[in-house]
Amino acid sequence: MITEEQVREALQSIEDPDLGKPIAETGGIRSISVKEDSKVRLKIALAKTGTPEQMQMQQQVVDTIKEAGADSVGLRFETLEPEEVEKAGGLKGEEGPKILSEDNKTQFITIASGKGGVGKSTVTVNTAVALARAGKKVGIIDADIYGFSVPDMMGIEERPKVQDERIYPVERFGVKVISMGFFVEDNAPVVWRGPMLGKMLNNFFNEVEWGDLDYLLLDLPPGTGDVALDVHTTLPESQEIIVTTPHPTAAFVAARAGAMAIKTNHRVLGIIENMAYYESRSGEKEYVFGEGGADRLADELKVGILSRVPLGQPLEDDSVFAPSVYQPEHPIGELYDELASTIMKKVPTE
Ligand SMILES: Nc1ncnc2c1ncn2[C@@H]1O[C@H](COP(=O)(O)OP(=O)(O)OP(=O)(O)O)[C@@H](O)[C@H]1O
Ligand SMILES: [Mg+2]
Repeated sequence: MITEEQVREALQSIEDPDLGKPIAETGGIRSISVKEDSKVRLKIALAKTGTPEQMQMQQQVVDTIKEAGADSVGLRFETLEPEEVEKAGGLKGEEGPKILSEDNKTQFITIASGKGGVGKSTVTVNTAVALARAGKKVGIIDADIYGFSVPDMMGIEERPKVQDERIYPVERFGVKVISMGFFVEDNAPVVWRGPMLGKMLNNFFNEVEWGDLDYLLLDLPPGTGDVALDVHTTLPESQEIIVTTPHPTAAFVAARAGAMAIKTNHRVLGIIENMAYYESRSGEKEYVFGEGGADRLADELKVGILSRVPLGQPLEDDSVFAPSVYQPEHPIGELYDELASTIMKKVPTE
């Protein structure tokens, strides 16, 4: 003759498959009745019912209780209340790992500059695409909330899917992208400010289903304004790439962006000198925007120059519309592949 106590004891080993916790802890043991002839009746509540996992655990419950001495086991199932599911820590596997949680292994790389128009977004997009070409799992947050440009540069026309209050980033060239541009109609200007702004950034981290990423690149707005500061204070740790043109004054302004990274305890990974020169057909280099700025900046911040990217347009390609993405066979595309391997060495992922 089996007792209710023994049944309860036997149920200790049974887990709710969707919560990854014993049903004894989730409130999943609704009722137990034991009849004279060792007939056991159970009512169990699970986070989800009607799943293959339920079928599996059903069998496990019957076996376990019979082993403990029951002659027969009658089972009834119901679903836990949403509050109970939440109390038990929420559904397992349903939400990906939180991108900002401590045990997340994603490497954050911020792309900053002192002034506008030096090529941050171009660098972000092409570095991300090159890292993805190298087999890495890569995402981009277009953190330039007002001046978003990543979707256009990559030729993205679709919008992220929203399901169960989670936002699924758009994938292009193997890169997952999220941008304010996806959430405004017809290129309307974004007029939110202050708290809304910070909230938007938080949403990009917390409401977006990033999945498992090796690198998350953040295209920052130019300068050292609120958004850049917000990003730096939100991220637990990041590597910053500073983009500058070779002109000495551009580099002078860029030093401020570097100073901000350092002040907020982020590491400056190195400098990218964009629009470094123009190479004529005869192979001669012309330094149309001056020379030496990036070197001076590197000296000042005590970091290296990661790449010098010349002036040049991506090849015309009718089949893939992506106005700012250099193809791998383009000389600048090759430079980005080299940059990607430099980054993978300096910022290894598991
Ligand atoms: N190496 C390059 N050769 C030619 N054109 C370039 C190069 N890098 C960037 N550009 C062009 O320069 C312009 C500015 O680049 P981009 O938008 O990437 O700069 P940004 O720093 O992100 O600007 P903003 O501060 O406005 O966000 C774009 O039209 C881009 O296509
Ligand atoms: Mg930009």
